[in-house]
Amino acid sequence: MKVLLIAGPNLNILGQRQPEIYGTQTLAEIEELVRKRAEEWGVSIRPYHSNHEGAIIDFIQQEGGADGLIINPGALSHYGYALRDAIEAFAGGKMEVHLSNVHARESFRQNLVTAPVMDGVVCGLGWRGYLAALDALVPMLQERAQKQVKP
Ligand code: DQA
Repeated sequence: MKVLLIAGPNLNILGQRQPEIYGTQTLAEIEELVRKRAEEWGVSIRPYHSNHEGAIIDFIQQEGGADGLIINPGALSHYGYALRDAIEAFAGGKMEVHLSNVHARESFRQNLVTAPVMDGVVCGLGWRGYLAALDALVPMLQERAQKQVKP
């Protein structure tokens, strides 16, 4: 099973960026934590980061055969309709993660245009949210795969 781990704009500077909000872990550290947890599930992780919406869309389209994706779209979550459409077209399982609790922040962050096309959304749990998303996604995908083979 293969899961895409996608990070949107400004998540490449995690660790230095407002650590009081986003924590002190770097993106590479989070990716490694997810990779290790995925290994326990017997799942392979394909990490990707871009500051550009179109590049993320290209990546999702290229990797369309993956079983699932976990994405923190950064601020694109609030206005990225093209990204939303690309995620909607992706056939696998989809989880959105936000490190911060966006519902407790500025009003523009409380509108998530990507969230309605997801299977689940995790926010406010910091780096742990990525592991929570993976721990929910993998059994969900396994369950779907089992249902598909049933007559
Ligand atoms: C974020 C929340 C977004 O509002 C913000 O633009 C980010 C990070 C989060 O992980 O909490 O870049 O997605």
